[in-house]
Amino acid sequence: MYKHVKRGLWNHLMKNGIEMGLASIIYEVGVASKYVNHAMRTGDLGLAGTSNLYGEDQLALDVLADEIIKDRLDHTGRVRRIISEEQSEIIIFDRARRSGGYAVCYDPLDGSSLVDVNLSVGTIVAIYAGQDPLQDGCRQVGAMYVLYGPRTTLVYCAAGTGVHEFTLNSLGEFVLTRENIRIRPSGKIFSPGGLRSDYLPEHENLVRHLEKSGYKLRYSGGFVPDINQILLKGGGLFMYPATTRAPSGKLRLPFELNPMAYLVTAAGGAATNGRQAILDLECHDLDQRSPIYIGSREEVELAEKILNQQ
Ligand code: AHG
Ligand code: MN
Ligand code: MN
Repeated sequence: MYKHVKRGLWNHLMKNGIEMGLASIIYEVGVASKYVNHAMRTGDLGLAGTSNLYGEDQLALDVLADEIIKDRLDHTGRVRRIISEEQSEIIIFDRARRSGGYAVCYDPLDGSSLVDVNLSVGTIVAIYAGQDPLQDGCRQVGAMYVLYGPRTTLVYCAAGTGVHEFTLNSLGEFVLTRENIRIRPSGKIFSPGGLRSDYLPEHENLVRHLEKSGYKLRYSGGFVPDINQILLKGGGLFMYPATTRAPSGKLRLPFELNPMAYLVTAAGGAATNGRQAILDLECHDLDQRSPIYIGSREEVELAEKILNQQ
């Protein structure tokens, strides 16, 4: 028992010297994730009867997960503004001071449409210093995700102090299971994204090259498990490209791409839109989308080479 407490999330944040406000945000998302975890395993899997900014039908679980995380972030008293995939505008918390503090962008339940067929889903969070949640990804001071799979795991990086994984144990504690995670420089799996019939020629060329080179296709339809596998197992490349139907791709910059790019880059990987680093993209809209090529450094460099061949 004592060993567990020593290896707990809060002790790790303090040992890493993470500023109390930033540490409390990461810790409170961990607390919220336990309630999300419980709701998903016991609660209503049906539609909420509402839709979000993207015109996507919201599941009761999307709305509930959003409420739980929003309340815990407000509870810290250190978060002033948030952007959520499930909210149509930036939310301001009155409790937090009007200066300093943090701003948070999050996707409360990414891949939520997979829950009713019992596939893994996740929560994704980006954290910025100050009052503005619409900042370029390179200005993040922390990011994390929670993966609700056969085990519930939490991966965070804050203030550039390494990427670390915690696993929820039977006592309800997140206990350190991997520290200072490094992604392989090159891997063997690829996640193509999108519909093949909608591919642009350059993305088709890249996918064909990877198939001919013997890469194994791994694509669950859940961004968090797909990235987690590449980050923790053998490296590789996750893609969600620009397509004929969606020239900016599908995934959103503020609460899906920026946090994952921060984590994968901090672990020694890379993330681009095919030309420019995701973290360097100007983030100006809460519903801004971008194509993404993210994972092992060698595969991202290969992708940029093939995508930009004349
Ligand atoms: P969300 O459920 O938050 O809308 O996100 C789902 C995303 C992401 O999890 C995944 O990578 C992608 O949708 C899969 O899209 P396709 O079904 O078009 O492959
Ligand atoms: Mn999502
Ligand atoms: Mn979502």
